[in-house]
Amino acid sequence: MVELANVLLEKEGNIAVLTVNRPKALNALNADTLNDIDKAVDMVAADAEVDVLIITGAGKAFVAGADITFMQPLNAMEGRAFGMLGQRVFRKIETLDKPVIAAVNGFALGGGCELAMCCDFRIASDAAKFGQPEVGLGITPGYGGTQRLPRLVGEGMAKELCYTADIIDANEALRIGLVNHVVPADELMDYAKKVAKKIASKGQIAVRFCKKAINEGMQTDIDRGMTFEADLFGLCFATEDQKEGMKAFIDKRKPEFKGK
Ligand code: CAA
Repeated sequence: MVELANVLLEKEGNIAVLTVNRPKALNALNADTLNDIDKAVDMVAADAEVDVLIITGAGKAFVAGADITFMQPLNAMEGRAFGMLGQRVFRKIETLDKPVIAAVNGFALGGGCELAMCCDFRIASDAAKFGQPEVGLGITPGYGGTQRLPRLVGEGMAKELCYTADIIDANEALRIGLVNHVVPADELMDYAKKVAKKIASKGQIAVRFCKKAINEGMQTDIDRGMTFEADLFGLCFATEDQKEGMKAFIDKRKPEFKGK
């Protein structure tokens, strides 16, 4: 276990769990907390044993947003820099060469909803709450909310959530496609780990190529996306995992992937 001032990083086999750990402030993101998340994600990136990362929060919140006390006195340039710090860290998570699951245990508001959205997908506890309440503070979302929310739930729903600052519960988040599953609070981490283990049991080069292809494809036109997919599909045939995965099918046994 690695313990940074505001973040815990634990490893269970091929699964890493990053817990934002500043429960007194409902895990609100100040610059130090963002920098700790950044460091922990770098550790996960560098650790060849880790196949899947789960991000969650300590206590009753996932993350209740960027730290309002920290932001209140900022000037325009400082505000811009603080937005770009969160954007950079969240983009690092989004483009991490390993799948990332958000296990949303409670409040995921503002920067917390944005943290959940930069993960590959979201599993919510039935106690989770989501929203982009920034306009109630006189600001816009600043860590990618105006960009990722409409891509995930559609423009109309994203605009309504951002303009009204409404907080929605886990079942409404499920209905609009913001989360993939809602599970009882005390089953959240077991469920997230079960999904992570299933992913870790597959060919990891192929899993990572899926992430790259989907991420690229979401930002480009279909023809470029298809070419990118064909390139990665072709490259799979240079891996031992492809030979093993198909041989195991033919031999009617379970594959033993090596991530090579
Ligand atoms: N920043 C700083 N401190 C925060 C915080 C935040 N975003 N959210 C909660 N806290 C602090 C509270 O100030 C309180 O501290 P004290 O005990 O020292 O008073 C502590 O955490 C516990 O919070 P509450 O007493 O408010 O807990 P509650 O259960 O009554 O309410 C809540 C929970 C509804 C989440 C409420 O705390 C809340 O509304 N928080 C702010 C949510 C928000 O507006 N988030 C968006 C921030 S802006 C942003 O994120 C911009 C961006 O996109 C980058």
